Amino acid sequence: MTPDPNRLDNLLVENRKFAPPEKFRAQANFNDESIYETAAKDPEGYWAKQAENLTWFQPWNKVLEWDAPHAKWFVNGKLNVTYNCVDRHREGPRKNKVAILWEGEPGDTKVYTYDMLGREVDKAAHMLKSLGVKKGDRVTIYLPMIPELPIALLACAKIGAIHSVVFAGFSSKALHERISDADSELLITADAGWRRGGLIPLKANADEAVVDSPVKKVLVVERVGEKAGVEMTQGRDVYWHDLMKQAPSTPFPAEEMDSEDVLFLLYTSGTTGKPKGIVHTSAGYLLGANTSMRSVFDLKDEDVYWCTADIGWVTGHTYIVYGPLSAGATAVMYEGSPDYPTRDRFWEIVEKYGVTIFYTAPTSIRTFMKWGTQYPQSHNLDSLRLLGTVGEPINPEAWMWYHEHIGHGNCPIVDTWWQTETGSAMIAPLPGLTTTKPGSATRPVPGISVAVVDEEGKPVEPGNGGYLVVTKPWPSMLRTVWGDDERFKKTYWSQFKGYYTPGDGAHLDEDSYVWILGRIDDVINVSGHRIGTMEVESALVDHPSVAEAAVIGRSHEIKGQAITAFVTVKEGVETSSDLVDQLKKHVVEKIGAIARPEEILFAAELPKTRSAKIMRRLLRDIAEGRVLGDTTTLADPSVVESLKQQYKDSE
Ligand code: PRX
Repeated sequence: MTPDPNRLDNLLVENRKFAPPEKFRAQANFNDESIYETAAKDPEGYWAKQAENLTWFQPWNKVLEWDAPHAKWFVNGKLNVTYNCVDRHREGPRKNKVAILWEGEPGDTKVYTYDMLGREVDKAAHMLKSLGVKKGDRVTIYLPMIPELPIALLACAKIGAIHSVVFAGFSSKALHERISDADSELLITADAGWRRGGLIPLKANADEAVVDSPVKKVLVVERVGEKAGVEMTQGRDVYWHDLMKQAPSTPFPAEEMDSEDVLFLLYTSGTTGKPKGIVHTSAGYLLGANTSMRSVFDLKDEDVYWCTADIGWVTGHTYIVYGPLSAGATAVMYEGSPDYPTRDRFWEIVEKYGVTIFYTAPTSIRTFMKWGTQYPQSHNLDSLRLLGTVGEPINPEAWMWYHEHIGHGNCPIVDTWWQTETGSAMIAPLPGLTTTKPGSATRPVPGISVAVVDEEGKPVEPGNGGYLVVTKPWPSMLRTVWGDDERFKKTYWSQFKGYYTPGDGAHLDEDSYVWILGRIDDVINVSGHRIGTMEVESALVDHPSVAEAAVIGRSHEIKGQAITAFVTVKEGVETSSDLVDQLKKHVVEKIGAIARPEEILFAAELPKTRSAKIMRRLLRDIAEGRVLGDTTTLADPSVVESLKQQYKDSE
């Protein structure tokens, strides 16, 4: 990580406060302030108490074994995550309760009760077993937001296989890289996915991705049908529905998993070009997901809960699949985009299903603001009682708009700060207890301890910017980076001894509320999605015309950040708008549409220090139109002046 302390000076000032509405407080699951203190005094005791909400095949004999930075939680406990998410509900009064209300983009719908879901998961587990999948094997899943996606996850977890979901927006090359790193022999995909009425060619991407990879079998879900024009490779490709028909309808026995057995890998971007396979284990991860459903989301049996994320990201893993299902919730799952066929699709869904808890990203809220209040106004949103946000800092204006136009002033807002690595929400209000301030994720949840520290690891004074750190281990923490424990230690645990470093800057205010300032490493957060600058740079220099590239995230009104690339071309190459388009396309092919640079600027030279390090901070200043920071270490100051002029001209 190359932290840039100059980014820590951008402190928000926001003074409005919102106490929990009395009606909400009275009914909240967590309504006793003393929980914070109790948990802080004895975090292990707190987590052990929460763990009673899970069903164990065998109890643990020690809550935590901490050999920093390696943690083992609930030592020698045995459980199965799918048993906790599905089967235990089937055996009790929730048997015929709706688990998933699925809404397809074209308007088709499916409803699964816990019992129906359980039967599908069992069949799918039989099917995976017939394909040779066993405990510990990695299964890569590249599916759109269709019911087979959670079913595939739960079937893997029932067998004890490790799933690795790759977001359906990633390119074939990105998929290939993730399949190879995880060494998966099975890939589950679909013929195609729907997106704004068009098709995402998932099977075609998968065909390219599996070349020269460890994959032996490709299991294909038919989502679109004939239109997808899929070609099946004999001996390698099989249809999901064909095998499901053959699968026995007998219950599939849940594999008894150790607390620390791996549940899944999820790749995320870091400061180098190569994505990291974040490793989550069974008991601790499930506990984080389950507890936060009750604490942060105040989940009740009668709620209709909707998290609008994609299961391809951690938010979807935790707050569409494992959190809601383990807590026995009724959850909405939507396949498509918010503006298809019209810009009120989300509000139509809220009204149709009577959604009570709604969780989305600040980028979406800013987009809704731009579209205007007529869309939410045209629907009855009175069922809503709690709103949440995640993925990026929320600006107070967007918070207020969400509060007024979606929550009608009645719904507490939980701004949840967390990461792929943390597994579940870390800093967030407890909606029946915490007075919120627009733009602040407020305080760490009970059982979590954070601090904001300076370069030396000393706590900074309130109001001063610093590095956010987590000072104690927690159950849903990542255990390592798949196949690279050194990278795990170096990335997260080397900067401040004994502390986990997430890579975010923050400051505390006088009430010890946390205000997240965003990433301070070489990671960009575009619409709540993490992209490494190095990944995009590697994709650019891979193009035959490019000599050198520097990529930065600049602030963007809707997306939070946008990708700006500064590129120098090879001798003799003509720069043109055509080349800009080619380069953007190249990045999309290498990574996926989420990494497409907003703008590409050609430069004769990139600003470098005398030791030849590209000064990204200056590039960011240029792209954000700021007065340039310190340029004294530049090898050639004239480079910056000409870049500045060029940037202005390009606007
Ligand atoms: O910078 C923080 C930002 O998103 C990063 C984590 O990204 P990812 O692993 O993709 O997970 C996103 C969803 C959990 C963090 O390092 N971030 C996430 N939530 C917030 C946030 N920044 C500010 N406020 C948040 N609520």
